[in-house]
Amino acid sequence: MKTFIENMPKAELHVHIEGTLEPELSFALAQKNGVTLNAKTPEEMIAAYNFHDLPSFLDIYYAGMSVLIGEEDFYQLTMAYLTRAAQQNIVYVELFFDPQAHTSRGVSFHTVISGIDRARTDAATQLNVECQLILCFLRDMSAESAMQHLMMAEPYIDKLVGVGLDSDEKNNPPEKFSAVFAKARDMGLKLTMHCDVNQDNTLEHIRQVIEEIKVDRIDHGVNILASTELCDLAKAKKLGLTVCPVSNKFVVQSLTSKEIKDMLALGLTPCINSDDPSYFRAYLNENLVALQEEGGFSKQELVTLVENSFKASWLSEEGKAHYL
Ligand code: HPA
Ligand code: ZN
Repeated sequence: MKTFIENMPKAELHVHIEGTLEPELSFALAQKNGVTLNAKTPEEMIAAYNFHDLPSFLDIYYAGMSVLIGEEDFYQLTMAYLTRAAQQNIVYVELFFDPQAHTSRGVSFHTVISGIDRARTDAATQLNVECQLILCFLRDMSAESAMQHLMMAEPYIDKLVGVGLDSDEKNNPPEKFSAVFAKARDMGLKLTMHCDVNQDNTLEHIRQVIEEIKVDRIDHGVNILASTELCDLAKAKKLGLTVCPVSNKFVVQSLTSKEIKDMLALGLTPCINSDDPSYFRAYLNENLVALQEEGGFSKQELVTLVENSFKASWLSEEGKAHYL
């Protein structure tokens, strides 16, 4: 099964570039940029990854970004992930990046997007990995800040496929960003939002993303299973749900294999993703292997999950046909 999973050409739709920062690269960039890290070795850094919920993960995730300063740093980070993706037989990626987590430290939007986009272009020719970018807003920052960043992105619009919403969900409902997402849609961008597992008001948040924001996809969204009405809506709209098993294991102590099976049985469109693979120590193949081991997924079910990634992607119809 492991070899079967490794050999399948795959897509990944839910991976945060900042969550791919490996400790070794962190140390190299810290030395280059004169940044002091808390840990003395990569092993010590990994040993301190003891998250048990979303906020405890986010604290470590944001602290880790302090080493990313110049355009070349963002290039190296992105090239390292896309190289890893190629090794995992991932042929297509939709990649999140969090510009506010960088501009708030004095790194310009131009620096961030230029480095990431240069790697994206090089990966297409050098690695045969196709990649599109999703600008993610931080929901624990203001809607005004999100709108300012959308305006900053306007000159780079041809480099983006969509916008997303991540970070701490508590007291930050989707509707806080209604105007920002409406504007993004007018600009021709696709829309997705995180509805992390077991957050406060999760069903109301899922309802808002479907009915009010009218997203094109939902990130995580596992709690949808508690509402027949929302499941029926998601099914009718063929909304992809980008589930992240190993990430869920950290946040809710479960790989959610039963929930993923239930989604398949209901005719929903779940797909499997790594979220923050460096922090959770599992890239896409490791997520699929762990899921298969826990849930006893058949080869056909694994193929369906991988096909769902392409179906839920924001490739053109011709682009999808090329891979499916
Ligand atoms: N949830 C919310 N915010 C995030 C995540 C996540 O899984 N990963 C990076 N930022
Ligand atoms: Zn995520």
